[in-house]
Amino acid sequence: MSVQHHILLVLSLTSTLGGCTFPSNHWGEWSDSQLQPTIQKLMKGYNRYLRPNFNEGPVEIGMSLDIASIDAISEINMDYTATIFLRQRWRDSRLVFPGNESVSVDGRLVSLLWIPDTFIPDSKRSFLHDVTVENRLIRIFSNGTVLYALRITATIACNMDLTKYPMDKQVCTLQLESWGYNLQDVVFYWTRGNDSVKGLDTLRLAQYSVESYYTTVSHAVYETGRYPKLVLHFSLRRNVLFFILETYVPSILLVVLSWVSFWISQSSVPARTCIGVTTVLTMTTLMMGARTSLPNANCFIKAIDVYLGICFTFIFGALLEYACAHFYTMQHQTLEDLHRELLKDFSETNGNGSIPILRNTQPNQSVEVGSTAEEPPEQSANSENQNNTESKEKVPSQGCGLSSMKDASRRAASVFIVENPYNIDRHARTAFPTAFLFVNILYWLYYLLF
Ligand SMILES: *[C@@H]1O[C@H](CO)[C@@H](O)[C@H](O)[C@H]1NC(C)=O
Ligand SMILES: *[C@@H]1O[C@H](CO)[C@@H](O)[C@H](O)[C@H]1NC(C)=O
Ligand SMILES: *[C@@H]1O[C@H](CO)[C@@H](O)[C@H](O)[C@H]1NC(C)=O
Repeated sequence: MSVQHHILLVLSLTSTLGGCTFPSNHWGEWSDSQLQPTIQKLMKGYNRYLRPNFNEGPVEIGMSLDIASIDAISEINMDYTATIFLRQRWRDSRLVFPGNESVSVDGRLVSLLWIPDTFIPDSKRSFLHDVTVENRLIRIFSNGTVLYALRITATIACNMDLTKYPMDKQVCTLQLESWGYNLQDVVFYWTRGNDSVKGLDTLRLAQYSVESYYTTVSHAVYETGRYPKLVLHFSLRRNVLFFILETYVPSILLVVLSWVSFWISQSSVPARTCIGVTTVLTMTTLMMGARTSLPNANCFIKAIDVYLGICFTFIFGALLEYACAHFYTMQHQTLEDLHRELLKDFSETNGNGSIPILRNTQPNQSVEVGSTAEEPPEQSANSENQNNTESKEKVPSQGCGLSSMKDASRRAASVFIVENPYNIDRHARTAFPTAFLFVNILYWLYYLLF
């Protein structure tokens, strides 16, 4: 009773709205002569506004996908654009015809049939290709199975977590839902489980490679009810090689370049400041270039930012190292001059210990000459060091007056004075590379393993 009532209701609705007079032979805008005899016979008494199995349980709709291409994966918009072949199959018992053959029907005849109202919930824009005709296919099998295929291009939202950029892996989904038919009317299933999706293995993407994919069946719950839903999950891994060549290697080389200044004599101020400032500026340019293709509105820190920050710190540190070393050297020299004066004064007044004064003053002059000529700064530093130790050893033997004076001056200045400023460079030569290596190991371990 209720079935008949339902049908009558729907029929009266359709006849008033669509002008689809039932059961006469007028099917929408199509007249009899335009239809093939088979189709015409098939369509007799067919109402496209009623789903198959009306009042007999849900229609089972099998889906399969071919991913033709994934064009643009945009980190800024957090979406991807894909062209897909979507195939849907269902059984419509009203379309059974004798024989074991199938009929391919013109795509325009789709308006005569009932079709599922599948939609993509996450799509921002999508369209059906219509060159040269609308890209759809209808095939009816003799047992009533209808195959309905479409070619769609859709821009689909994909939430990305970019904190590990560019060592990141993004999991995107492609969801298919029924718009109006709830779970009582329509049930979705993947036709071949995980194998229902083709084309992802052979896909060539500019920046990513498809790592894995799988399909799930679930349902969506809205205020209006529970709707069938199919989900394709696929994970994309970014190819880090591009970033290594483009950003990581240049920044590493810049850091190494900044170390070159440790081997340059401290007296060549222009050379060392030039290296320092140039590397800092180049690093700034690199950092700006690495940021252009990424969303920076939400200020999360990405892995590449961390690395560039580390490199920048090291380069800036090298520049500061020179500033410190130079400052202390100047201070050291003035202090030595002071000592020399004091010694000279003392020897002039006392006439004692003339040998240490000679030893202390003359080698210093020779060192300066030597360093400009052939001697590497390392050796000059060594000889300086030796001179210092020698002078230190000799000084106490001169007498208590001088030594106490020297001790006092040294103690007063020792808060600010580094014992031997040339050692700053020498230590930097090992400390900077070691620290950089250590930080690198930590960085790559953290971002590649966790
Ligand atoms: C269709 O049926 C005919 C006879 O019933 C048989 O010879 C033929 O092989 C069948 N074709 C297919 C594709 O099954
Ligand atoms: C209907 O026929 C097609 C093609 O022969 C076949 O693939 C499909 O499984 C059949 N469906 C049913 C429900 O028998
Ligand atoms: C599909 O793949 C997922 C993940 O690999 C797996 O958990 C699931 O069992 C697979 N499903 C089928 C039907 O093989």
